[in-house]
Amino acid sequence: MARSPANFVLLLMAAATWSFFLAAYAGRLQPSCIGRERDALLAFNQGISDDPYDYLESWRQERQDCCQWAGVTCDNATGHVVKLDLGGTYLVGQISPSLLSLEHLEYLNLNWTRLCGPDGRVPEFLGSLKNLRHLDLSGMSFSALLPPKLGNLSKLEYLDLSNILHFNKRIVLTDISWLTRLPLLVHLDMSWVNLSSIADWPLVMNKIPSLELLDLSACSLSSANQSLTHLDLTTLHFLDLSYNFFGHPIASGWFWNVTSIKYLDLTGTSMCGPFPDSLANMTSLQQLALSYMGNEATMTVDLKNLCDLEDLSLDGSLSSGNITEFLDKLPRCSSNRLQYLSLRSNNMVGILPNRMGHLTNLSLFDLSYNNITGAIPLGIRNLSSLESLLLPSNLLTGAIPLGVGNLPCLESLHISNNLLTGAIPLGLRNCIEVDLSNNKLSGPIQLGIETCTRLLYLDLSYNSITGPIPPILENCTKLYHLTLSNNLLTGDIPPGFGNYTSLQYLSLSSNHLTGPIQLETVSCTTLEVLNLSDNNITGVIPPWLGNCTSLRHLSLSKNHLTGHVPSKIGLLGNLTQLDLSNNNLDGVITEEHLVSLKNLEHLDLSLSWNCHGRCPRART
Ligand SMILES: *[C@@H]1O[C@H](CO)[C@@H](O)[C@H](O)[C@H]1NC(C)=O
Ligand SMILES: *[C@@H]1O[C@H](CO)[C@@H](O)[C@H](O)[C@H]1NC(C)=O
Ligand SMILES: *[C@@H]1O[C@H](CO)[C@@H](O)[C@H](O)[C@H]1NC(C)=O
Ligand SMILES: *[C@@H]1O[C@H](CO)[C@@H](O)[C@H](O)[C@H]1NC(C)=O
Ligand SMILES: *[C@@H]1O[C@H](CO)[C@@H](O)[C@H](O)[C@H]1NC(C)=O
Ligand SMILES: *[C@@H]1O[C@H](CO)[C@@H](O)[C@H](O)[C@H]1NC(C)=O
Ligand SMILES: *[C@@H]1O[C@H](CO)[C@@H](O)[C@H](O)[C@H]1NC(C)=O
Ligand SMILES: *[C@@H]1O[C@H](CO)[C@@H](O)[C@H](O)[C@H]1NC(C)=O
Ligand SMILES: *[C@@H]1O[C@H](CO)[C@@H](O)[C@H](O)[C@H]1NC(C)=O
Ligand SMILES: *[C@@H]1O[C@H](CO)[C@@H](O)[C@H](O)[C@H]1NC(C)=O
Ligand SMILES: *[C@@H]1O[C@H](CO)[C@@H](O)[C@H](O)[C@H]1NC(C)=O
Ligand SMILES: *[C@@H]1O[C@H](CO)[C@@H](O)[C@H](O)[C@H]1NC(C)=O
Repeated sequence: MARSPANFVLLLMAAATWSFFLAAYAGRLQPSCIGRERDALLAFNQGISDDPYDYLESWRQERQDCCQWAGVTCDNATGHVVKLDLGGTYLVGQISPSLLSLEHLEYLNLNWTRLCGPDGRVPEFLGSLKNLRHLDLSGMSFSALLPPKLGNLSKLEYLDLSNILHFNKRIVLTDISWLTRLPLLVHLDMSWVNLSSIADWPLVMNKIPSLELLDLSACSLSSANQSLTHLDLTTLHFLDLSYNFFGHPIASGWFWNVTSIKYLDLTGTSMCGPFPDSLANMTSLQQLALSYMGNEATMTVDLKNLCDLEDLSLDGSLSSGNITEFLDKLPRCSSNRLQYLSLRSNNMVGILPNRMGHLTNLSLFDLSYNNITGAIPLGIRNLSSLESLLLPSNLLTGAIPLGVGNLPCLESLHISNNLLTGAIPLGLRNCIEVDLSNNKLSGPIQLGIETCTRLLYLDLSYNSITGPIPPILENCTKLYHLTLSNNLLTGDIPPGFGNYTSLQYLSLSSNHLTGPIQLETVSCTTLEVLNLSDNNITGVIPPWLGNCTSLRHLSLSKNHLTGHVPSKIGLLGNLTQLDLSNNNLDGVITEEHLVSLKNLEHLDLSLSWNCHGRCPRART
């Protein structure tokens, strides 16, 4: 049948409609790229001299749809390039002015690339990309000041200029007034930019009322005590001023009335004096980082209303304090959010209270290096989320309560350098690190098998621990550090003591251990320090010691070792200290023994030998 013209027209119309739908459908999924913008991107690509990860592999003329190129995003409806994300690509080269053709660009991320403008500057034309809302130039390298032209980017919401270096020096900004022309700015990160000449920086920031995040860490700011007549920063929730040297009273900081702040970091700002009472009103706070301010501050503020507080770090900041009173001022709310409490090196005194019900969510409790007295209270057993209990270098007395051993999540227990008595706690099922050294603990070493299989670090040195080394220690095969020195341990070194596969440090010195060194199966390639001195060990120096190639310190002095020194010890090229003195070793040490000991700093072989009239000289 011959087709009538009418039929043909219908068919044509159907085909056209179909292809229209197809095009529209495809267009919705994959906007076709606009030729002018593709050319601009290709011109930009021309400026790239090195692309170490072949990130721009897809940027090719023959791949027409530039919206599909890596890092490029187009608007679904219009097909215009709206986003160019080359962050973290380590591209090297010049930023081509062709970018100006991307008139609809809203998002430009060049972080950690080695791209720059002509003369190594920040290219001025960036200030003309007037639709930009997000600009990230962090970690880049520019030679010259950032042009105030960036102040023309009036739609900017996100600006990251952090870590801009030039030949490893921080870039210097002498004018930031242009920031006040960015009324929509929400996120401003200028950390590691040198702002030392800008005295009125809080006044500038106060004129950007939309700010939510302000990061001025390590900007060489000289003070934060400027007075603001009216506070406009009502939505600020992140303020990082860490590592700027302020040196003025804490209470004069301009930011203490900004009650919207959730994250406040004043670490390393060297401020002094009392914290202001207005801190008690900052009820949005979740993280408060106040460490290393120089031990000239005092904290008398009642924090009981800071119900959202999760982290409080205050290491090395207080000149004095009373832990009993301090803990009493921590938040008391229907839900206990505080997880992280670190109060190291604050000259604190007082005793730990038994009532710690408001701290039951703590996972880290660090009171290291204070002068806290009294016993560890029984109430500590209620801190059932505790993962790290760090109380070293205090004046704690009494026994370690049983509850400590039963804390279900405890991974790190450090209570060295105190005056604790009594037994080593039982339990400790999840512990990875245990350091109870330098106390007055007594009784035998008691360790459960569960503990043993996880334990990486065990230091019980400088106590009065008695009894033999328990065979269970053989099963602690993950240990990398084991120190039982300066105790009253007796009996033989257990034969399976060498089952450890990652042991780096082993000291059993100054005990009353007897018998030979039987560590036959020791997998000693990782062993760096072996100290068995000052015991009553007998027998010979085992030949396998010559296979422990990582050994740096080897001390077997003050024992009753006999026989020859294995010649392979002379091949331990990493050895810096070798002490075999005060034994009953046979023969002389020969050149053969010392061929490779190039790094040896200390060698003591005195009184080592059954002399037979041919005593060697001690060498150092
Ligand atoms: C564009 O389309 C993609 C895929 O359909 C979709 O995931 C995306 O949200 C759209 N973007 C915009 C800005 O509409
Ligand atoms: C750099 O940009 C990439 C890509 O957007 C992002 O994933 C990354 O977090 C940024 N790097 C830094 C250090 O901000
Ligand atoms: C910035 O804006 C001012 C006026 O608001 C204008 O005179 C100037 O040319 C603009 N600069 C750039 C680089 O667009
Ligand atoms: C901060 O609050 C105190 C006490 O409410 C008030 O005296 C002071 O004027 C406030 N400062 C600012 C800058 O608002
Ligand atoms: C805390 O806030 C209350 C209520 O807004 C106010 O009355 C009080 O003055 C504030 N205290 C300080 C120290 O700013
Ligand atoms: C503990 O107190 C002694 C004596 O007052 C003092 O010398 C020492 O510095 C204090 N140590 C700490 C860590 O506070
Ligand atoms: C610490 O504070 C408590 C409670 O106020 C008090 O009883 C105790 O005497 C103080 N301790 C020291 C050493 O000042
Ligand atoms: C220690 O390990 C050995 C060998 O795997 C095993 O036979 C022994 O039962 C373990 N000791 C304990 C106390 O579980
Ligand atoms: C440790 O070594 C001893 C003796 O070499 C052996 O009998 C024992 O099974 C080993 N224990 C483990 C847990 O491997
Ligand atoms: C070694 O044994 C002798 C005699 O039994 C004893 O007097 C001495 O104290 C012991 N030395 C050590 C370090 O245990
Ligand atoms: C030292 O290592 C070599 C090579 O792995 C091995 O043949 C030898 O038996 C080992 N010597 C001792 C005493 O373990
Ligand atoms: C020194 O120790 C390293 C690391 O364990 C090891 O690779 C190296 O072979 C040792 N050097 C000598 C001379 O044994």
